[in-house]
Amino acid sequence: MAVHIKRQFSLKLFVLYSVKKVYRWRHVIMSLLLVALVLCFYIILIFGVPFEIKKSAPKPIKMEFINASDSTSVKAFANKWVGFPHLSYINCQEVLTYPITNEAFEKTVHRVADSALATESSDCPSFRTKHGFHRFPNITEEEREFPIAFIVLFHKDLDQVLFLLRAIYRPHNVYCLSVDLNSGPTFIQHVRSVITCLPNVFLAKTLEPIVYAGFSRLMADIHCMKELLTSPVRWRYLVNIPGQQFPLRTNLEMVKIFKIYNGANDQLGVSGKKSLPRRYKIKHHVVWDKKTGRNITAESVGRYPPPPHNFQIVKGSAYGTFSRAFVEFAMTDRRAHDLIEWSRGIESPDEYVWSTLHHTKIMKVPGGFTGDPESKRSMTTFVAWQREVPCESIHVRWICIFSAADLPMLKRRPELFANKFYIDLHPVALHCLDQYIFNLTITNQVRDLQLYRELPFILTKQRPTLMNT
Ligand SMILES: *[C@@H]1O[C@H](CO)[C@@H](O)[C@H](O)[C@H]1NC(C)=O
Ligand SMILES: *[C@@H]1O[C@H](CO)[C@@H](O)[C@H](O)[C@H]1NC(C)=O
Ligand SMILES: *[C@@H]1O[C@H](CO)[C@@H](O)[C@H](O)[C@H]1NC(C)=O
Ligand SMILES: *[C@@H]1O[C@H](CO)[C@@H](O)[C@H](O)[C@H]1NC(C)=O
Repeated sequence: MAVHIKRQFSLKLFVLYSVKKVYRWRHVIMSLLLVALVLCFYIILIFGVPFEIKKSAPKPIKMEFINASDSTSVKAFANKWVGFPHLSYINCQEVLTYPITNEAFEKTVHRVADSALATESSDCPSFRTKHGFHRFPNITEEEREFPIAFIVLFHKDLDQVLFLLRAIYRPHNVYCLSVDLNSGPTFIQHVRSVITCLPNVFLAKTLEPIVYAGFSRLMADIHCMKELLTSPVRWRYLVNIPGQQFPLRTNLEMVKIFKIYNGANDQLGVSGKKSLPRRYKIKHHVVWDKKTGRNITAESVGRYPPPPHNFQIVKGSAYGTFSRAFVEFAMTDRRAHDLIEWSRGIESPDEYVWSTLHHTKIMKVPGGFTGDPESKRSMTTFVAWQREVPCESIHVRWICIFSAADLPMLKRRPELFANKFYIDLHPVALHCLDQYIFNLTITNQVRDLQLYRELPFILTKQRPTLMNT
């Protein structure tokens, strides 16, 4: 009699069987898992985290759109422009057109304390409306597809910084603020509160106690650059500015100018004697200055070793316009890293590192310029140096502090930003320049771009098809 074995599914047997199989193949399975893990690690290393662990892409602020019944620029202006309220009697169009004297205007403005700003920011929608962060609802497609990253460095006057930030703020860009640690924990806390209302504005994770002309100033930018590279916003260009500058171009104009640059950076450059060799041929270090009660950069005795890799030192500006590829390069390249490390012991490394990298011939630098550094001008920042440019106001460290009477001249400048403004000296200058830029923005005006097309540092010849805008 044949034994009839009934084939019946038994869960117990199945589990036992599976465990046995897994046990037998355990080495293969472990190896496969290990390979997968290493692969994941490399993918993340090369391409970045494919999903956001901590940060998600900033949620765009819900905009209060200018509606059809409201769409003329005059109405938009009346509803959206925010200047200093008690200066509203001033006719900025006249200020910008006719020669005037500064005596006509007050030099004081009702300041808003940073603590008051922090309190206001507990209600974000009303904060954004009151401070004008909702004022450009119709951002063009062209701007949206070309996000810009900004670094703003400051240590005081949050109300002035907000005035600046509002002028350059667009919900699709990204902004890294770096606040000098010396400004104290209360001020920094107030900055933190205010930017909770602006999802695409962040405070750098690492802040520096800034020493004038010291390495910390350079590091403040580097911290922001590193963080900006991990931002979900795929910005195309980066501009670094201090809190006392103000834009001379609209966001749309900047986008069109950067498209003309076509990957090139914009950085000032002087070499030879003009590069002030004493600053990098003699060792410098940070010392405590009893007189001012702060740290300063001072000369030590003895020569400083020459830069690594035979870099030819070129002096430029701390401020510039940098392509994304340049920033990636400067943050990852070994030789760039060595140059940055070397610059710890020189005076004002922020005025040497970007410029030296941008102008170097020892290797190919993204967006770099290998011609004569002095054969070109820089378009990032306009500075009215004493004895070079007329100034209707005072000079601080040989730099003009712009006033209302300087505006007709500023209006004609082709640079992206002007440096510098003091809210507690000539608030009318900020008030009227902001109005001018605002009017250009709401009407999507683009002023003549021919000058930028003729700049010697732009990258046109290689890829002419990319610059038909
Ligand atoms: C459009 O604007 C008018 C007048 O400013 C306002 O009363 C109305 O509620 C607005 N409509 C929408 C859809 O926002
Ligand atoms: C804003 O854009 C929308 C849609 O593109 C359009 O209908 C509206 O008229 C625009 N408003 C202004 C003020 O240009
Ligand atoms: C001044 O610099 C020294 C040395 O770098 C540092 O230890 C000290 O904390 C600094 N002091 C201030 C107030 O920044
Ligand atoms: C901006 O536009 C408004 C409304 O058209 C106008 O009243 C004002 O004078 C303009 N301001 C400037 C600086 O052009």
